[in-house]
Amino acid sequence: MEQITLARPDDWHLHLRDGAMLRAVAPETARHFGRAIIMPNLVPPVVTGAQAAAYRERILAALPEGSAFEPLMTLYLTEDTDPADVAAAHASGLVKAVKLYPAGATTNSASGVTNFDKVRPTLEKMAEIGLPLCVHGEVVTSDVDIFDREAVFIDTVLDPLRRATPGLRVVMEHITTSQGADYARSGGDDLGATITTHHLVINRNAILVGGIKPHYYCLPVAKREEHRLALRKAATSGDATFFLGTDSAPHLDPLKENACGCAGCFTATNTMSVLAEVFEQDGALDKLEAFTSLNGPRFYGLPVNDSTLTLTKGAPVTYPAKIDSADGPVTVFDPMMPLHWRVED
Ligand code: DOR
Ligand code: ZN
Repeated sequence: MEQITLARPDDWHLHLRDGAMLRAVAPETARHFGRAIIMPNLVPPVVTGAQAAAYRERILAALPEGSAFEPLMTLYLTEDTDPADVAAAHASGLVKAVKLYPAGATTNSASGVTNFDKVRPTLEKMAEIGLPLCVHGEVVTSDVDIFDREAVFIDTVLDPLRRATPGLRVVMEHITTSQGADYARSGGDDLGATITTHHLVINRNAILVGGIKPHYYCLPVAKREEHRLALRKAATSGDATFFLGTDSAPHLDPLKENACGCAGCFTATNTMSVLAEVFEQDGALDKLEAFTSLNGPRFYGLPVNDSTLTLTKGAPVTYPAKIDSADGPVTVFDPMMPLHWRVED
């Protein structure tokens, strides 16, 4: 029997939501993952240290009895963010990153940043104290094609922002392009990049061929096949720049299967089986642990988890097509391929 044992993985980009959805999805991540960076795009967003502390308590309350899962909290950067509040939330150990959403880029990003001059004092404080900025890297102006949003953001926003703020540690979240992977690689120790499970599996055909497939629609939207292959190369390389951030983003099915469907793929349930399949396909099972369990803690300056996770290869494993929340069903990401690696819970 083929088995691999990894230091327990972490998810460096996760949406847990709140209320009934939180109670439904928190156990799905806690089953396999040690820690996760929790996205703050609630309605209203998690902006202050006090709000992050309260949200953390709600997450802990939603975990199964005895779970050791640790939510790593973030603050949502707005043009009114108080640098002193950010510094205090970091100093207390509560907050591990600040999240930058360009206003209008994605789900619940209306309070995000339009005028980057307004957040300069916060970015400078973060550079001083070593608090990472997690960046949703897309421009949102209507003259830029949605498939070009990431590449244009790197050239016109991210690179100038990093040059203007020396020492700022940045995570390029959920990169989807070869340009994203190349830029991340070029950035030295202050720059990292997360890659989602689904962007390693799907290209844009999954969304559009044979009918519109809303469960494959997420932001940044999946790109051409050449970009998926560039992401596979980056993730399976072992390069410490790249680590797993699933961006598992649950929405109720009626809100996905909709004339204006929400963006997000819900991958928490089967992510580790999918990743093992992907890494095996690329002859890189020996690099899986770096991607899921080592590179992220290294970037964030946290210890590697001391517990482990074992995957066993055998007959195809199946996962439920949907999980249920008290508000309705949520479809689990379908990787459109058999999965042979079972996670031993
Ligand atoms: O697909 C996405 N869903 N991308 C994001 O950036 C946000 C997320 C969500 O919150 O639903
Ligand atoms: Zn996200």
